[in-house]
Amino acid sequence: MLALSCGAAAGQDGPPGARQDELLHLLRQDCGSCHGLTLRGGLGPALTPSMLQPRSDEVLVATILHGRPGTPMPPWRFAIAPDEAQWLVMRLRAGDVGHEQQ
Ligand code: HEC
Repeated sequence: MLALSCGAAAGQDGPPGARQDELLHLLRQDCGSCHGLTLRGGLGPALTPSMLQPRSDEVLVATILHGRPGTPMPPWRFAIAPDEAQWLVMRLRAGDVGHEQQ
């Protein structure tokens, strides 16, 4: 019996594969409805690596989980767990959100 497996839960490797697909789908569809289909901005600001660069992970994760009161940015804590939000921020920073790079 193997005590250690490589199927780690959300951590450095992120959530399990199927959930990653779900989260990236949500990012493109739901977040994309405001932030632009390619997340280059729309009603909400662009979520590109250079735009996010000056912001800390804490601020970005908190924005995703709790929204920004007084702006259209809604809270997502009912749909997205904190470690999942952290993982999405990592993907956004990498500019790797699962669609062809343009
Ligand atoms: C209803 C429109 C709307 C939806 C849907 C939406 N956002 Fe936003 N979001 C905004 C707006 C507007 C802002 C800018 C708030 C402000 O003025 O500070 C924002 C800000 C942000 C920021 C902070 C950007 C920065 O530079 O500080 C992040 C990160 C973010 N959104 C991520 C997401 C993610 C991830 C999703 C999907 C899970 C999402 N948003 C869905 C409207 C939206």
